[in-house]
Amino acid sequence: MNRRTTLMGVVALATGLMLAGCSSSDSKPELKVSGAFMPQPVSDMAAGFLVIRNSGDTSDRLTSVTSPLSDDITIHETKNQTMRMVSSFEVPAGGELDLERGGNHIMFMKLKQRPKQGEKVSVELHFEKADPIKIDLPVKETTHNPKKQ
Ligand code: CU
Repeated sequence: MNRRTTLMGVVALATGLMLAGCSSSDSKPELKVSGAFMPQPVSDMAAGFLVIRNSGDTSDRLTSVTSPLSDDITIHETKNQTMRMVSSFEVPAGGELDLERGGNHIMFMKLKQRPKQGEKVSVELHFEKADPIKIDLPVKETTHNPKKQ
């Protein structure tokens, strides 16, 4: 009886340690945003581009974007020169999500005002796991494309 109780205690302790080990190695995604910009809009629509780097060992997903500039913001992929709304984008562990001209982008519709080159648009990026990230998108000239410089 006593021995059995002790054994159970040892098993419980071992299981507890294993669980603790598991949860501490299950680290969070570590996200960093760079190269963000918005080409100066020429209508009441605008696009946003940026790179999200994940240096953690857990993948995450960009699920939505919010901004005072618009209440109608979605995320789009471009395939065969046609853009399509998606519900989320993966930010792979140890990799990055590229939102770039001609490809994936943030789409702002029904702009409340038209930001000009040199201004900044504040946006908040929302993720499945990581905390939201607030950044400013500098407004660049309409044809700005960092990849082509
Ligand atoms: Cu679009």
